[in-house]
Amino acid sequence: MVNAPDQLWWQRAVIYQVYPRSFQDTNHDGIGDLEGVLRRLDYLSETLGVDAVWLSPFYPSPDADFGYDITDFKAVDPRLGTLETFDRLLREIHARHMRLIIDLVVTYTSDQHPWFIESRRSRQSAKRDWFMWADAKPDGSPPNNWLSAFGGSGWEWDAQTEQYYYHSFTKHQPDLNWRNPEVREAMLDVARFWLERGVDGFRVDAAHWILKDPELRDNPPNTAPRPLVARSLGEYDSQLHLYDKGHPDCHEVFRAYRRLIDSYSTPEQPRFAIGEIHVFDWQEWAKYYGVQLDELHMPFNFALVGAPWQPEVVRSVVEGMEGALPHGAWGNYVLGNHDEARLASRIGEAQARVATLLLLTLRGTPTMYYGDELGMVNGVLTPEQIRDPWGKNDPALGRDPARTPMQWDASPNAGFCAEHVTPWLPVNPDYPMRNVATQLAEPRSMLNFVRHLLRLRQNSRALQQGTYRTLESAPQGCYAYYRSTESERLVVALNFTDQEVSLHLPSSGRVLISTHMDRNERFERELVLRADEGCLVALG
Ligand code: NOJ
Repeated sequence: MVNAPDQLWWQRAVIYQVYPRSFQDTNHDGIGDLEGVLRRLDYLSETLGVDAVWLSPFYPSPDADFGYDITDFKAVDPRLGTLETFDRLLREIHARHMRLIIDLVVTYTSDQHPWFIESRRSRQSAKRDWFMWADAKPDGSPPNNWLSAFGGSGWEWDAQTEQYYYHSFTKHQPDLNWRNPEVREAMLDVARFWLERGVDGFRVDAAHWILKDPELRDNPPNTAPRPLVARSLGEYDSQLHLYDKGHPDCHEVFRAYRRLIDSYSTPEQPRFAIGEIHVFDWQEWAKYYGVQLDELHMPFNFALVGAPWQPEVVRSVVEGMEGALPHGAWGNYVLGNHDEARLASRIGEAQARVATLLLLTLRGTPTMYYGDELGMVNGVLTPEQIRDPWGKNDPALGRDPARTPMQWDASPNAGFCAEHVTPWLPVNPDYPMRNVATQLAEPRSMLNFVRHLLRLRQNSRALQQGTYRTLESAPQGCYAYYRSTESERLVVALNFTDQEVSLHLPSSGRVLISTHMDRNERFERELVLRADEGCLVALG
């Protein structure tokens, strides 16, 4: 591996998101567990070759939102393991020279969390002010027009104490009142707990939802067209979310987290946090690094997830981020996660390889979603099989299709769980053909493409930290760019069309990898790309 001492691990790493419920079941309840992740670590570190694991929530949860509604922030859901399993998982990850970041849910608890049970007991409860309680309007209607991101009002009436409480997501996830210093201390203490256990960092969930307008002003209607790269959120898009999230006071909270995280960082273990921040105006987005780069290390860049798959749009995303990055800040890209449709379903299987070549060769930390290395496609569910609360409100927005079990092999239930067990979501019926074992045996498979590309990346300083420059002369339908250091000059050329295209490059070169996995030839100044082909080439 190329040693780039001037880069921190999280700048160099390829992060792989494990959605634990769907990765590997070992205790025969149809739900993936931490022991399952342990069992698959060699796959992640050796077979695939990623550097860091992001583990989505594994805390005790009544599953109103599958792990994001938490009843104990400092424990492991017994269905998924114990703290001992967690510690073992962390040790084994470190033993393989990988890093672990965990989901840190900061904005809400479960309505079954002891804090909320206590809070809703009476208006005099010591924890009343830990959540966002407000009186009804004189006509009994909610305090303002704020919506739940999953549809309907964000306010839920509590008949016993005759007030509303606010929930940005499901009504089973009451929002914490971050203006209360005790809440702040209790939540920072959660981060401290996991830092003490040795995690390398956090993915901070729903980060900019953390603080809202203290006057609870109504959101104005949204008349602006949706940003090109933002996907539809249904009813939620009808408002301009001026007051229900992203309050400027958020930044102070992120600085507090950063101070805490930095206090646990050492040269051997720099800790790290990436925030789930859905902001599509680049200047606004960049503010989440902090004026002094003193907030979360990175806000997630989701622009490629919603971007129409066209070369001009993708180019504008990359140039937009490059142009907005504050001096000294490091960028990132993502193509899929547990909240979005599967990449291969969004843009087609042929282009999924092209997109993966893009993700793994841009300047910035890539995050991969489990199963995308196989080209997994959206699962198809009957109405009875829908589990996702959002999908229950609006099937078009449901996220279950992207959460079907990982496809390990061609055995019943794809190796995710035993044959006699019913998985929590149905295994995608394409598993006999699309699975890890089958693709490992097929030299030109998507999996082998990703593995090979990850190895090239690990050995290339230009890919890890070289400069980015758009190749202006790329023909229509094609997007291409340079990644360079003083001694290495690479070009990534991506054909978005089903027609052959030809690029003129400044010098001769050699193909290092093609998405088709069938060429390594030298070329003179002309590089010909076949339909749906992307190539990484070395010039010179
Ligand atoms: C953000 C998570 O990514 C998403 O899966 C979850 O539904 C919401 N937070 C609300 O809990």
